[in-house]
Amino acid sequence: MSVAVQQFEVELVAIRDRVNVRLAESLAPLDDCPAALRESMAYSLLAGGKRLRPILVLFACEACGGLIDDAMPVACAIEMIHTYSLIHDDLPAMDDDDVRRGRPTNHKVYGEAVAILAGDALLTLAFEVIARNTRNGSVAAACCADLASAAGWCGMVGGQVADLEAEKQLEHRYSSQTTSCDVARTGAEQSLIQLEAIHRRKTGRLLCSAVTLGARVAQADTNLVDRLQEFGKHVGLAFQIADDLLDVTGDAAKLGKNVGKDATLGKMTYPGFLGIEASRRKADDLIQEACRLLEPLGSRADKLVSLAHFVTRRDH
Ligand code: IPE
Ligand code: IPE
Ligand code: MG
Ligand code: MG
Ligand code: MG
Repeated sequence: MSVAVQQFEVELVAIRDRVNVRLAESLAPLDDCPAALRESMAYSLLAGGKRLRPILVLFACEACGGLIDDAMPVACAIEMIHTYSLIHDDLPAMDDDDVRRGRPTNHKVYGEAVAILAGDALLTLAFEVIARNTRNGSVAAACCADLASAAGWCGMVGGQVADLEAEKQLEHRYSSQTTSCDVARTGAEQSLIQLEAIHRRKTGRLLCSAVTLGARVAQADTNLVDRLQEFGKHVGLAFQIADDLLDVTGDAAKLGKNVGKDATLGKMTYPGFLGIEASRRKADDLIQEACRLLEPLGSRADKLVSLAHFVTRRDH
């Protein structure tokens, strides 16, 4: 590992620690909250995780000349939404997973009802945290709108539905006979388009919004927001391709979650369609292109560029 990469990893740990402190503060005990609900929320939110989305918010804000402290409420909010999406993603009705962030999944410990409700509560708390703690009211409103759209029916939630529908569709396709090569090829091309659309929504939208939210807090001009948005779109897709690859090639202990689940569930994935090498190339190309987009920002974008490389280099 090069010295620059080592230095960046030290910086990552430091910023992650700052996020973790703020997340813990945001769940300070409240008299009105049932103890089991708070415990369940804290169990998943404070269980670790890479904190990639909040760190993207903070680095994007800095790259646009803003202050880390000003972006902290939005950074915590996006991590709350991400954590809620993980709790729900692991439920028996979805991916039915029993390990997450190195410990039993939320529903295994607190039961399905409380797990669902802890997810709901983290989702709503996210918007409360932004609305109460972002100093500039119009920035707060813009961030709430962006985040709601990235997390909602046309973003993460819509993508999760498409991901589940695709499972059933693949089952159907594999069980029916294909009669001609042309039909098979057209089907594969269509599937790749469908797969990219699923990944862009279920994961890409939220990751992309992390970058634009940081820019919004810094009150960056439209050109800069647009440039960062393009960067975020590339990084978002590369991130889910890397997640698919780690499900095939990764180590469960390092990942803190089960591997081999995508094949078992019949998920549409990049390695499933393109194979491992071509999927790696696709993710690397997306990161190269993302970093090229930030060249006009010069050294201001250094941390974002390093973070983008981390997305495909990571083993967890
Ligand atoms: C996992 O996200 C779920 C996906 C969207 C692929 P992360 O890999 O960011 O999970 P944590 O937050 O580090 O646990
Ligand atoms: C999850 O994608 C995307 C979410 C919106 C949570 P996966 O189902 O592939 O995530 P993991 O592999 O369980 O973390
Ligand atoms: Mg899933
Ligand atoms: Mg899953
Ligand atoms: Mg996965």
